[in-house]
Amino acid sequence: MSVTTILLLLIVTSVIKANSLVPEDAHLNFTELSIKYGHRALEHRVTTEDGYILTLFRIPGKKPPVLLLHGLNDCSDSFIIRGNSSLAITLADKDYDVWAANSRGNKYAREHVKLNPDTDPLFWDYSFHERGYYDLPAIIDYILNATGYKTLKSIGHSEGTTDHFVLGSLRPEYNEKVQILIAMGPSAFFKHLTSPLSLIIEMGPLVDQVFSPFKIEEVFRDGSVEKIIFQAFCTQNPVLCRSLIFQVGGYDPKRLEREFLPVLFGHFPSSGSRKSLIHYNQLGLRKRFALYDYGAAENLKRYGKTEPPDYNLAQYTIKTALFAGNNDLMCNLKDVEYLRTVLPNVVLYHVMESKKWNHYDFVWGNDLPKTLYPHILKLLETF
Ligand SMILES: *[C@@H]1O[C@H](CO)[C@@H](O)[C@H](O)[C@H]1NC(C)=O
Ligand SMILES: *[C@@H]1O[C@H](CO)[C@@H](O)[C@H](O)[C@H]1NC(C)=O
Ligand SMILES: *[C@@H]1O[C@H](CO)[C@@H](O)[C@H](O)[C@H]1NC(C)=O
Repeated sequence: MSVTTILLLLIVTSVIKANSLVPEDAHLNFTELSIKYGHRALEHRVTTEDGYILTLFRIPGKKPPVLLLHGLNDCSDSFIIRGNSSLAITLADKDYDVWAANSRGNKYAREHVKLNPDTDPLFWDYSFHERGYYDLPAIIDYILNATGYKTLKSIGHSEGTTDHFVLGSLRPEYNEKVQILIAMGPSAFFKHLTSPLSLIIEMGPLVDQVFSPFKIEEVFRDGSVEKIIFQAFCTQNPVLCRSLIFQVGGYDPKRLEREFLPVLFGHFPSSGSRKSLIHYNQLGLRKRFALYDYGAAENLKRYGKTEPPDYNLAQYTIKTALFAGNNDLMCNLKDVEYLRTVLPNVVLYHVMESKKWNHYDFVWGNDLPKTLYPHILKLLETF
């Protein structure tokens, strides 16, 4: 047997072994999880102005519509993989009309009317800018039309909040359609990053230069060889993979217990664009909330100046409740406090009580029904 054959066999057996360790919930999609935890879900498809086709999951209820919007390289599943104690099921139990959306590029939104994500690099030419400018308004309009409501309430995590900030500043007519944004791990300014994330951000352009000749525009494609190996590896070495998450999001092993990890790694990360990572990297280097930097010449063509302009957050007037974590390394307290001073209409600024609270606890934490949902339910009732 050749070395390659042996290697392949090793990989295949470890993938099979990993799969046998995995609980059912790791493999179920949003609709299946919703049924398992007691609610019928419907699948809707929304086409954006620029041709992307996104899946929206709806768990119908009699109360007003609530939109759930996920973060970077994530998808709607993060709001349901905790089953009975997940946000989607909790809101459905309370009879809210729950809409869990997916933004372009992830496994539920890897489709376009013309572009083929496998062969057209143009499909991957987007960041949170396009998610906010095209995806979010299409999602909002679709929900309002389907429900007959004039406004909806929105809950965003991480990039899901960035999308709102982009939309409100560039298309202010949408401010009126969102009654409140509950912003968890709100992401716009990265002025106070600490190590190792600050180091990763410093290294970002270099790493990108190394990889750019390979023309890899999509990262973490579901079903790709590297993703299957990654998932098998993380299923067998969950604690090691968890520590990678903690490196960038903050260390909090109590809320992200070992037993839950195989389910988590069945759903996270999801596919996304390289450009999204670069745009965030630019925010970290520039320490401003600015449009994409294409380089001086191209900036001049697109923006009329050599530097990319800032998003004008004075235009963003949505009522916003900011939720921050003491130990959130990505959106740390100083940056959220700064954001609070910049946003015109902050209705609540809440720092989670636990000193350990990290960036991902907002969606994956195992004590959310006690620590977070009471705040969310109160806001949904009040606004
Ligand atoms: C989810 O799974 C169900 C049942 O297998 C399937 O019918 C449905 O198409 C899946 N939905 C998506 C969006 O993948
Ligand atoms: C979820 O909660 C419902 C109602 O409280 C209960 O009937 C069901 O058994 C729970 N499901 C699981 C899988 O724990
Ligand atoms: C609006 O909703 C109606 C029925 O609920 C549907 O027939 C129509 O296609 C929708 N329009 C858009 C633009 O989605």
